[in-house]
Amino acid sequence: MSAENELSCVKVDIDDENIAWLSFNRPEKRNAMSPKLHYEMEEVVPQLETDPNVKVIVLTGEGVSWSAGMDLKEYFRETDDNPEARFKSYWSHRHWSQYLMLSSKPTIAMVNGFCFGGAFTPLAACDIAITAEEATFGLSEINWGILPGGNVSKVFSDLVSHRDAMYYAMTGRTFDGKKAVQMGIANVAVPADNLREETIVLARELMEKSPAVLAFTKQAIKAVRGMDMNMAYEYLSAKQGALRAADKEATRQKGMSEFLDKKSYRPGLGAVQRD
Ligand code: ACO
Repeated sequence: MSAENELSCVKVDIDDENIAWLSFNRPEKRNAMSPKLHYEMEEVVPQLETDPNVKVIVLTGEGVSWSAGMDLKEYFRETDDNPEARFKSYWSHRHWSQYLMLSSKPTIAMVNGFCFGGAFTPLAACDIAITAEEATFGLSEINWGILPGGNVSKVFSDLVSHRDAMYYAMTGRTFDGKKAVQMGIANVAVPADNLREETIVLARELMEKSPAVLAFTKQAIKAVRGMDMNMAYEYLSAKQGALRAADKEATRQKGMSEFLDKKSYRPGLGAVQRD
């Protein structure tokens, strides 16, 4: 990655298994999101999207924190009297969060520690979230005299029940990784010591799938959330047709042949070695 050497708030490591480890890299500030961090993310996320060496993107944090949310000093206080600077960093955050949400590649949030406030937006933008049991989450905005903006109210309400959204937004109380799974914020909680290993297992499983089928599946699941029944039927029919044209590996024909003709593949019986 050309810009890699210039990055200071974000770290990128593409390993030899084609997993891109994208890290918030301000551990001394608990990975609070400063304007500079947003600008770097805005540059890096599209680069990962178009890099053919990247098959899965894992978003995590250096040190003990995933992200302590927006930087209260650099994002808020220092731009209170500078609307232009605030505007730029607001839109930068909005852009890269949207890029991440609309990525055609599988994205995994690997929550290694603190996750507060504005950090819920990139968390929700990832397709799958795996968290350390010991991680600490919270909507602390209420304690700073602000409401959960930057779309946190929206993404949090979309993930959790109405009761939990009200309760945690109004109290600012914290909760751990196990509770985050119960609430639907994360898929799996594992001990911190196993977090990376479990993330790699998950990434490998995703990389076994057809990239085209994965991309279309992601788009379909996200798109139908805002549709009524009839719209969803129509959209999915059209999308299915488009996928057959886009899937150069002909995964559908291959799977049918393995199951119906060769009888070599039984997906319902777990992971079976495919041709
Ligand atoms: N913004 C700016 N700086 C921060 C932030 C933040 N959100 N979070 C931590 N820091 C800084 C601290 O000011 C401190 O800087 P310093 O060393 O220059 O004094 C450094 O990071 C380390 O923080 P500590 O509080 O010393 O670390 P500790 O491990 O004890 O606690 C914790 C970590 C729990 C994350 C604590 O820092 C905290 O509560 N931070 C605020 C979290 C928060 O409410 N975020 C939401 C902000 S509002 C929003 O996102 C819209």
